[in-house]
Amino acid sequence: MCGIIGFTGTAEAAPVVLEGLKKLEYRGYDSAGVAVVGKNGLGMVKASGKIENLCKKVEECGGVSGTTGIGHTRWATHGAPTDTNAHPHMSEDGRFAIVHNGIIENFAELREELIAKGCHFKSETDTEVIVHLLSLYYKGDFKRALMKTVARLEGSYAIGAVCSECPESIFVTKIFNPMIIGVGAGENFFASDVTALVSHTKNVIYLEDGEIAELTPEEIKFFNAAGKPIEKKISRVAWDTEAAEKGGYEHFMLKEIMEQPHALKSAIEPRIKNKKSVLSELNLSEEQLKGINHIIITACGSAYYAGCAGKYTIEKLTRIPVTVELASELRYSSPIVDEHTLLIVLSQSGETLDTICAMRELKDRGVHTVAIVNVVGSTIAKLADSVIYTYAGPEIAVATTKGYTTQVAVLYLFAVYAAEKTGRITSEEAEKLTAEILSIPSDIQRAIDLNSHIAELAEKYHDNSSLFFIGRNVDYAVALEGSLKMKEISYLHSEAYAAGELKHGTIALISEGRLVIAIACYEELFDKMMSNIKEVKARGAEVLGVAAEDMKKIFSEADDVILVPKTHPLFSVPSEIVPLQILAYYVAKANGCDIDKPRNLAKSVTVE
Ligand code: G6P
Repeated sequence: MCGIIGFTGTAEAAPVVLEGLKKLEYRGYDSAGVAVVGKNGLGMVKASGKIENLCKKVEECGGVSGTTGIGHTRWATHGAPTDTNAHPHMSEDGRFAIVHNGIIENFAELREELIAKGCHFKSETDTEVIVHLLSLYYKGDFKRALMKTVARLEGSYAIGAVCSECPESIFVTKIFNPMIIGVGAGENFFASDVTALVSHTKNVIYLEDGEIAELTPEEIKFFNAAGKPIEKKISRVAWDTEAAEKGGYEHFMLKEIMEQPHALKSAIEPRIKNKKSVLSELNLSEEQLKGINHIIITACGSAYYAGCAGKYTIEKLTRIPVTVELASELRYSSPIVDEHTLLIVLSQSGETLDTICAMRELKDRGVHTVAIVNVVGSTIAKLADSVIYTYAGPEIAVATTKGYTTQVAVLYLFAVYAAEKTGRITSEEAEKLTAEILSIPSDIQRAIDLNSHIAELAEKYHDNSSLFFIGRNVDYAVALEGSLKMKEISYLHSEAYAAGELKHGTIALISEGRLVIAIACYEELFDKMMSNIKEVKARGAEVLGVAAEDMKKIFSEADDVILVPKTHPLFSVPSEIVPLQILAYYVAKANGCDIDKPRNLAKSVTVE
């Protein structure tokens, strides 16, 4: 996700801001920028790519001089990662510059309104509306202009703003995005996370939603949403810089597992309008959608397993047959497709070569391609006829966690949207199902709360040399991803089987003490799973059962049990997989593995 930083003091601001941006690099970004208020007004430099590019550009232009500055690392959401789309954004009169984290959901309406008033937009970002509003509302009172501006915004934001007429002041405010003030001596800071602050000060103040702060070198004034002065308490940060980058977590993977409630909210909430799932990114008319008689989902690795999970929900709701194909196979299989086929491509990075090639193959045959990707402006996003971003934020750990769950969530939204548009479900049914999808982030939080119980189980089971994951129906799809997570980070031999298939060969491998992780959340087939558990128990297996919290019957057969939050059966995968991600994490940790960078694996596989 984007990172923001600001400084006001007596030293030159640009070097402080650039150094702060480097501390935010770990968050992942694709462009960066800095704006400084000096004697001659506002100076701004922006560059796509690495912060080194920005530093070079600053040097080349002779530097930006002044003692008040703001900076930003952007991770593209609205508009490609170009110099122009990078932050800060400046008002046309050159008076204001702002940096922004978050998403302005009503930017399209505001943009239209501002254009009608004569504003000229330079970028494709949602952010630029903020700076135009600020300039429009400014009548000599910076705070008032900011208050009037934020009153017009819907969505989430942390904003840092500077004005050439108040060269020592920075105004900041936030809704749903972090904003931390760093309290120094004769200098003050703000940032999106403490990482960028700890080398300057460990005294911080956390801004709450709606609050405003004005920073000058000598003081910080706080105001509530109504503009009335308030007092705030200073907290002391205990982290060093390295711990701060990982948000205090030991590994990026654990941090990303814990971020899932937020990531899922970002993927789901902007797409719910009037209680319905609305995929305005889908460039398909209702007629075209009604004409689809076959959906192919293609991807690699975990994204492929996300497709396997989504298939069940899409088929049940839309009654359109779904085939899930490995991209490396699909591209060489001369698939039978026509204009009634829809291709859904899943990719976190948007750069996986096999996925790109499979997509090209079908696109060339006239198939409409829908890409569900995380990285904005990636190759797959550019190639697709329709792009739906997952907004999971950057994923640093090689083993995907929030990338996978957000892909599944978007497939759920697609299923409900397509089912309603094609008349397979009523408007009321669509509303009820959408409400269920909206509760996924809180269900996931409850799954995360199982953390310490799962850590104990990992301690018990970590030295198994080989294990099996079994499940039926959608639980089989969860087993596939759970097993992949386990093998890729813990290096244990692990395989996933459809539980009903065990008897046809694999059961020969079940012997005394072999660990079987039996996923039995799918209520309709719970009794069948209980029979499968009995079969492996009878051959000496140890069973770790995973069931929904109301299926306590599983305790009668399994040696240990993880009870996961009960959800609607069509939307259960995120809450089922999270405990398995946590299990893989702690098993890998107990085995001393390099969790964030497992051997032989790459985050983005750009070769065949
Ligand atoms: C690599 C990663 C996996 C990922 C797969 C597909 O193998 O290690 O975690 O699932 O690529 O990547 P994509 O970026 O296309 O989702």
